[in-house]
Amino acid sequence: MAKQRILSGIQPTGNLHLGNYLGAIRNWVDLQEEYDAFLFMADLHAITVPHDPKRLAEDTYKVAATYLACGIDPEKATIFVQSHVSAHAELAWLFNCITPLNWLERMIQFKEKAVKQGENVSIGLLDYPVLQSADILLYEPDLVPVGEDQKQHLELTRDIAARLNFQFGSEETPVLKVPEPMIRAEGARVMSLTDGSKKMSKSDPSEQSRIDLTDPPEVILKKFKRAKTDPERGLWFDDPARPECHNLLTLYMLLSGQTKAAVAAECREMGWGQFKPLLAETAVAALAPIQARYTELMGDRTYLETVLKTGGEKARTLANQTLDRVKVALGYAMPL
Ligand code: TRP
Repeated sequence: MAKQRILSGIQPTGNLHLGNYLGAIRNWVDLQEEYDAFLFMADLHAITVPHDPKRLAEDTYKVAATYLACGIDPEKATIFVQSHVSAHAELAWLFNCITPLNWLERMIQFKEKAVKQGENVSIGLLDYPVLQSADILLYEPDLVPVGEDQKQHLELTRDIAARLNFQFGSEETPVLKVPEPMIRAEGARVMSLTDGSKKMSKSDPSEQSRIDLTDPPEVILKKFKRAKTDPERGLWFDDPARPECHNLLTLYMLLSGQTKAAVAAECREMGWGQFKPLLAETAVAALAPIQARYTELMGDRTYLETVLKTGGEKARTLANQTLDRVKVALGYAMPL
């Protein structure tokens, strides 16, 4: 039986952090063993808010190098750049014309990001989820592993597929395959170091709120030392009154590879002064091999380019098949 397919991506904007690794990439490393994995850099999404053209390409290579350094294997997974597959933008246009405007106006992430952009909200920011639907539906994945915050975008993707199938397909021959979301377990949601109720995020203006995957040991130590805590003695999981405590214990559990029960027992009587250096050292040790490999990969542009070229070719072949099927269903005169 053919393997089931998964697809996911990350925007190349700014440095990737522990949340990206523990919450997403590390899961993909496991999933690539059992699934046909398509993993990409969403560089078309990266320009939906103002961007720096001098950094876009470099940031794209950085995300690719991070995927590889974390253990994504180009022999197992297809790694590619979104803008290298023109079918993404083309299918997004076709979807634009069958997607009701009010489906987009109610997207939570759009509303949140639009507030930050003030007068400068682009059509692209509103259209972001339609492009994401094209990203997904082009590759006919069975599952789309994403964080909780992407749930609404996944629902929109399913709605667009169903609507197109209803309007232009038949029940026996659907045009698009409707994928299932694969929402990560709560435990893998990494929160900010300055506010345990907020997600660790690339767009948080405070560097102190996150551990970048490329942070050197002394910076990691300092950031954990300054991380927000509470005056309580003894550490335990799952206390809604102690979000920072839960987050830092979870980080320790994930980075040390121990079970929750083992960490709970080990840390039950610790104070912050003892726990924070332990967590920091564990993080430094866990990131060391990834950082070494990352530096090596960033120094070998030819290799990175080869990986992305091969991945891009494979992605294009699959994507163009879906795009053509949609164009035929919509009634286009196809080029000979
Ligand atoms: N919007 C996603 C995020 O911010 C990134 C993304 C773009 C994506 N296209 C995708 C994720 C397709 C999964 C599938 O995390």
